[in-house]
Amino acid sequence: MVEKGVEIAEANGKLGILLVGLGAVSTTFVAGVEAIRKGIAEPFGSLTQMGTIRLGKRTENRSPKVKDFVPLADLNDVVFGAWDIFTDNAYESALNAGVLDKDLVNALTEELSSLKPMKAVFEQKYVKRITGENVKTGKNKMELAEQLIEDIAKFKEEKGCDRLVIVWAASTEIFLEPSEIHETVEAFEKAMYDNDDRIAPSMIYAYAAIKSGVPFANGAPNLTVDIPAITKLAEDHGVPICGKDFKTGQTLMKTILAPGLKSRLLGLEGWYSTNILGNRDGEVLDDPENFKTKEESKLSVLEHILQPDVYPSLYDGFSHVVRINYYPPRGDNKEGWDNIDIFGWLGYKMQIKVNFLCRDSILAAPLVLDLALFMDLAQRAGMKGVQEWLSFYFKAPQTAPGLYPEHDIFIQLMKLKNTLRHLKGEDLITHLGLEYYD
Ligand SMILES: NC(=O)c1ccc[n+]([C@@H]2O[C@H](COP(=O)([O-])OP(=O)(O)OC[C@H]3O[C@@H](n4cnc5c(N)ncnc54)[C@H](O)[C@@H]3O)[C@@H](O)[C@H]2O)c1
Repeated sequence: MVEKGVEIAEANGKLGILLVGLGAVSTTFVAGVEAIRKGIAEPFGSLTQMGTIRLGKRTENRSPKVKDFVPLADLNDVVFGAWDIFTDNAYESALNAGVLDKDLVNALTEELSSLKPMKAVFEQKYVKRITGENVKTGKNKMELAEQLIEDIAKFKEEKGCDRLVIVWAASTEIFLEPSEIHETVEAFEKAMYDNDDRIAPSMIYAYAAIKSGVPFANGAPNLTVDIPAITKLAEDHGVPICGKDFKTGQTLMKTILAPGLKSRLLGLEGWYSTNILGNRDGEVLDDPENFKTKEESKLSVLEHILQPDVYPSLYDGFSHVVRINYYPPRGDNKEGWDNIDIFGWLGYKMQIKVNFLCRDSILAAPLVLDLALFMDLAQRAGMKGVQEWLSFYFKAPQTAPGLYPEHDIFIQLMKLKNTLRHLKGEDLITHLGLEYYD
């Protein structure tokens, strides 16, 4: 028994990271880890690999790396698996995504070619713009879940994995509202047998993961694990879950800037955000039903950070518009424009323009790595159900029922680090200002 902190099982043996979707984000992530393992790249953007954590008083000068502080899986012990509706292996898919230079992808030909996707659970009605042949068939959704459970068990055995984690990095599904069939495990299972339309493929993966005792992180804005039935199932099976929607690009900027404006009591009249994006994700999001899922996820952040109910004269009724336009020439290099109309002393108006020429998958890949490693840590530390401390990584963080999500990136980081301190029995650091400098 440990005296202070939480007992955490060691990260012995191999960790299998199973990716749902082997597109731009997943291949950029896998290629990155392979390049890091070969010593030809550094893990920029990854808190688990490069981040430090301040412990005790500032005068103690204790700031170990996160990965030396908590027992995380070593990158050399990680193996990859994936499902996709296309048969392309990770090498072909990385070239197709066009995120990484051909030279880099070619330097990793062997590693990437060996990652071949398993047959996916997919239905066109949930993702309108793409069609593929590498898809499972079954008489109902429960049978499809059973096939995924078999895939998971087979992968674990064949690769000799000690533990597994699943990350959803597949296309955004159409917007679904939570309904009574998502309320209880019984209703959910019945709906799977009944082939109910309200059970999306992502939910079938989540169900299979949890039934297999495997943590599940949702990188897209789909409901997926954010329903009572799945949350309950995760708790009953002792499995950590988290989501939704990787926080990259424009929303990352928003949650960096908005807390700063609020800290200076600068008012907001409106925030107009638009994007041009030319990858497959952009194509999927060009469909209104798929975009609606994304829009919901992107819109919520400002309300929560700015708290118009607490500061009505500063933030009541500000206008917030988010657009995504599919524009093929840009590929994965998204361009985001923000026009922010603010006001200050005596109501004088000012404008801020942000033009972020970002690379979506480059921003998302380190988040996949951190989430996989932290979800594995959570499971070894006996944490189960919704992992709110990982809100740092999401646009629409999943919370326990009845709680509001925290969107302020600085508070999110503080929560994350304090959770790590708690796990190791160190004093929590609650003075936010100090966090900026550790
Ligand atoms: N890149 C970012 O910055 C970012 C940020 C937040 C969220 N996301 C989300 O991450 C997801 C992946 O983004 P991407 O740029 O890699 O997209 P992508 O289109 O390149 O890749 C998605 C892959 O998922 C596959 N797929 C679709 N449905 C599937 C299913 N049911 N089972 C298995 N595979 C399936 C597709 O065939 C495709 O290969 C999207 O939902 C996107 O909205 C990305």
